[in-house]
Amino acid sequence: MAGYKIAILISGRGSNMAALIQACQADGFPAEVALVLSNRPDAPGLAIAKAAGIPTEVIEHGGFENREAFDAAMTDVLAAAGVRLICMAGFMRLLSEEFCQRWRDSLINIHPSLLPAFKGLHVHERMLDAGVRIAGCTVHYVRPAMDEGPILVQAAVPIAADDTPDSLAARILQQEHRIYPLAVRLIAEGRARPAGGMVAIDNYSLPRQWLINPPLE
Ligand code: GAR
Repeated sequence: MAGYKIAILISGRGSNMAALIQACQADGFPAEVALVLSNRPDAPGLAIAKAAGIPTEVIEHGGFENREAFDAAMTDVLAAAGVRLICMAGFMRLLSEEFCQRWRDSLINIHPSLLPAFKGLHVHERMLDAGVRIAGCTVHYVRPAMDEGPILVQAAVPIAADDTPDSLAARILQQEHRIYPLAVRLIAEGRARPAGGMVAIDNYSLPRQWLINPPLE
C-alpha cells in the first residue's frame, strides 16, 4: 500500500538504495521511499536520490560527541519523516543498542555474504581466501551486534575459478539488487516478521529444486 514509508541509510555509492527507489516507484509496489539519510555529505548516492525526487538529509557523525548522540539525531529525523521501516544500504556505521532497540524489527540491513558466515569488512576477498565455492548475500533484521539478526532473504552466487574480489562483488551485487526489494515488499505487505530468532514469512516458499547445484560432469 502506498503510504508505507521507508527510509534508506547510506554512506557511499548507493546502488542498493537506487534499486530500492526504482522498485518503490514501480506500479503496485507496497512501499514508498520517504527519506534517504547519509552520514557523509559526499556520498555519491545522495545525487541519485535527489535526481529521483527523494528527500535527502545528511547527518555527519563527526559532529557528535558519541555514537549515542549521533544515533539520537538520526532517530529524530527518521521519526519526523514518519517512516515504518529503515533500510541500511551500505551504511558503514555501527549502531548503538539504544538505536537498535528504538527501531527493533523496523530496521533491516543487506550484507554481501551468506550470513552468519563472513560478517564484517573485506568480505569478497575473505571468501576467496577461504576457498568457499558458493557466496551470496543476505537481507536481515538488525540486532546490536554487527551483521547479526534474523534472516529475511538470501541469494546464492557460485564462485568462479578466476574470480577476483571485484568480479565476485559485481555478481553478488546483482543479486543484492533483486533480494532487497523483495525483502521490503514482504515486510510492507505484512507477510514477514521476526519469530524466535528467525523470520516467519506467509505464503512464500522456494521451489526445492530451484537453486544452483554443481553439475556432476
Ligand atoms: C553492498 O555490497 C552492501 O551489501 C555492503 O556494502 C555495499 C554497499 O554498496 N554492506 C555491508 O558490507 C554491510 N556490512 P551500495 O552503496 O552500492 O549499495
